[in-house]
Amino acid sequence: MAEKLATLSFHDGKPSVDFPIYSGNEGPDVIDVRALYGKTGLFTYDPGFMSTASCRSSITYIDGDVGILQYRGYPIENLVETCSFLEVAYLILFGELPKKDQLDTFVDTITHHTMVHEQLSRFYNGFRRDAHPMAVMCGVVGALSAFYHDSIDINDARSREISAYRLIAKLPTITAMTYKYTTGQPFMYPRNNLSYVENFLYMTFGTPCEDWKPNPVLTRAMERILILHADHEQNASTSTVRLAGSTGANPFACISAGIAALWGPAHGGANEAVLKMLDYIGDVKNIPQFLERVKVKEDHTMLMGFGHRVYKNYDPRARIIQKTCHEVLEALDLKDDKLFKLAMALEKIALEDDYFIKRKLYPNVDFYSGIVYKALGIPVPMFTAIFALARTVGWIAQWNEMLGDADAKIGRPRQLFTGAARRDFVPMGQRK
Ligand code: CMC
Repeated sequence: MAEKLATLSFHDGKPSVDFPIYSGNEGPDVIDVRALYGKTGLFTYDPGFMSTASCRSSITYIDGDVGILQYRGYPIENLVETCSFLEVAYLILFGELPKKDQLDTFVDTITHHTMVHEQLSRFYNGFRRDAHPMAVMCGVVGALSAFYHDSIDINDARSREISAYRLIAKLPTITAMTYKYTTGQPFMYPRNNLSYVENFLYMTFGTPCEDWKPNPVLTRAMERILILHADHEQNASTSTVRLAGSTGANPFACISAGIAALWGPAHGGANEAVLKMLDYIGDVKNIPQFLERVKVKEDHTMLMGFGHRVYKNYDPRARIIQKTCHEVLEALDLKDDKLFKLAMALEKIALEDDYFIKRKLYPNVDFYSGIVYKALGIPVPMFTAIFALARTVGWIAQWNEMLGDADAKIGRPRQLFTGAARRDFVPMGQRK
């Protein structure tokens, strides 16, 4: 029984109706409107889920007004300083920071699932070499269900666990293979003596012709980027994974659906769009003119990497990645990089502009991630694929949480119908 109630009253004399209010551990309370239709014959109307909690979750907490992001209660700033990506993955998946032996076992398990079925490499040949990496990723990850039939029984806990390991382990391999395929270089097999992040960089940048040595600064930068992108509560792609999963679809299909949703420029595709935008602006002197265009709605030009549905303050991920960006550019002697200088100038001018101040539009994680990727030598179309690699951890944790939630049901929104009312069929010859 909920302690608090909300009362819905009507102006036309209909009796008022009470609804329970639930409190989480942090964040706004929610009104449970599940009985609304049964009690009143009314639906709620909330396109874009502006005021709707679609589920309960204990994984990630965001306070967008203050700029807080926590995985399982731990502030992102602490995790990024000390943890490896797999340590954070363990935390997100299992709810607690791993002890040394737990982490060792987890890392060992993931390491021994990094190879993909050999036939999967031939699957790539069906794609054009100039295909967008996200198109390839949607296809290849979806196809995993055809290669790993033995772990798609979603009602079996062990099966779900193996799928989770497979997805987390194989995503770096698949992402690197996508890069290799589009560049025409041979696929590189994973190496078990490398860490998760080193392995991804090795499979991406290594070739069979020469030795490859990890660069600690770049490895650390990539580790941080992956941690920052690992989960972000009920965003569009995570909600897509949950919606697909609510039908009983297998985990590989659900993650592929998440990748498709992530691709859009309003979501994960923004990191690629930021680079394209900076290229387009070209020079600091063109910033004012570009910002004037952004303010004209009819122009449909957005300042990419700015704004967020939840953060109405500086995105905490952007603060961290801005620092990482400085470190990487310093390490690579790219401090005077024109693109970076342009980004800094654009950020400064936008943050002082009334349009952005009034709307509480601040830089988000994608504003700087693209610059770091570019400095690491990653081609622009690959940016969102790396976001997908990292977010796979969050998607799986959220999918698993949903499958264990007694309140979860097939996702089936309703609508406010605005089409034609019932009318008589008109035979072809009588149509005007
Ligand atoms: N540039 C210019 N105007 C903007 C921007 C922007 N980037 N973002 C929002 N606005 C304006 C918007 O036009 C609206 O103005 P008005 O009140 O005059 O109609 C106001 O700010 C409120 O925006 P909104 O569209 O209601 O906000 P939303 O919550 O629906 O959209 C968003 C959030 C992220 C889709 C949007 O800010 C956006 O498209 N940003 C650019 C794309 C981007 O960087 N996306 C990455 C998000 S972070 C990574 C991730 O989670 O995937």
